[in-house]
Amino acid sequence: MKRNPAIQLLGQLAVVFVVLLGVLVWGWMAYQPNQPKEDNEYIYALDYKLLPEGATPENKQLYYGAALFEQTAQLLGEASEEKLVGNQLNCSSCHLDGGTKPYAIPLIGVHLRFPQYRGREDTMGTLEERINGCFERSMNGKKLRGSSPAMQALVRYITWLGRYVEPGETLTATGLKPINLPNRAVDLNHGQQVYKKVCVVCHGNQGEGQLGEDGTYEYPPLWGPMAYNNGAGMTRVITAAQFIKYNMPYGINYKTPQLTDAEAYDVAGYINQQSRPQKKNLAADFPNRLKKPVSTPYPPYADSFTQTQHALGPFQPIMEYYAKVHQITKKK
Ligand code: HEC
Ligand code: HEC
Repeated sequence: MKRNPAIQLLGQLAVVFVVLLGVLVWGWMAYQPNQPKEDNEYIYALDYKLLPEGATPENKQLYYGAALFEQTAQLLGEASEEKLVGNQLNCSSCHLDGGTKPYAIPLIGVHLRFPQYRGREDTMGTLEERINGCFERSMNGKKLRGSSPAMQALVRYITWLGRYVEPGETLTATGLKPINLPNRAVDLNHGQQVYKKVCVVCHGNQGEGQLGEDGTYEYPPLWGPMAYNNGAGMTRVITAAQFIKYNMPYGINYKTPQLTDAEAYDVAGYINQQSRPQKKNLAADFPNRLKKPVSTPYPPYADSFTQTQHALGPFQPIMEYYAKVHQITKKK
């Protein structure tokens, strides 16, 4: 049987068309550099360097914000005019990988959650105020004015980190990943052993950290005068244990933890018992005391457990008390 050549050609064209379409669709799907990975991890590429820095004022501000985030101590610390940072940490010392690492308190999309209620102040707070919370505590420094170029650049950077997040979208791997808290107080001897075995190589004998070749801290201090102060979130044992378990020793992530829950808990308690800068006026935190996280190591409390128990556990009895007497479920 003889086919009509025109129909034959059409058939061939259709095949070519389908193949081309397939290639295009495949290429489009493969080229989605900033889409969440399969497991929805939201590890967005830190690809601001693809934007030409000087091209627009916005790009310049973004570069400045990124630099401030990674080199906060250097740019705003001792050597700077205003000395807004009082220690040797950077935002990225805790918000790892420029604020993008899963379960390392990533800042992707947080700009959409502000203004929000803040228990520590018992009011609605803005993103700027939340950033200043870390300046006054984690950075042992001073508040930035909302209108200052540094604050605006940090807000721009954080907003940019969440550039692909839709309002109302639920993100995964936010904040810190919970651990199973041992139902006992921290074992400080065990914590010290873990510290010496696992952490000392980078963070030093006195928790003082280590300078790199360029004269800035390659490994940040954990205690002593250059560390976070006693009002910082990291001084809560539960917070520190969650951070440590899924992020330390440096290089691991939440899928490849090396410490057991007990090791993370004990070493967190150990580092938080060491001396560090003291923040003034901590009694004013959490005006509504019922909102205070259970492992906040400074009084006053809305319960009669001792300060030592709030600092070192066991935390289950405190959590049970709030559940029973105040119908409040506390996880941290
Ligand atoms: C010593 C560790 C540490 C450092 C350094 C630090 N932070 Fe934080 N940051 C935290 C902790 C801990 C939290 C609260 C986590 C929690 O309790 O859920 C937090 C929370 C935040 C939040 C709110 C996140 C959210 O999910 O609501 C922002 C924004 C933030 N930090 C910005 C910064 C900026 C900007 C810097 C640098 C100027 C900085 N932080 C430095 C530890 C740190
Ligand atoms: C291989 C080196 C290395 C080891 C080992 C290590 N850390 Fe770290 N740690 C780092 C680095 C680097 C950072 C900061 C990350 C950054 O700046 O990007 C950090 C950050 C931290 C922070 C938050 C910032 C600060 O200084 O307060 C804590 C807390 C911490 N580490 C605790 C520990 C504990 C506890 C151990 C042991 C279980 C440990 N680390 C083991 C390298 C290390």
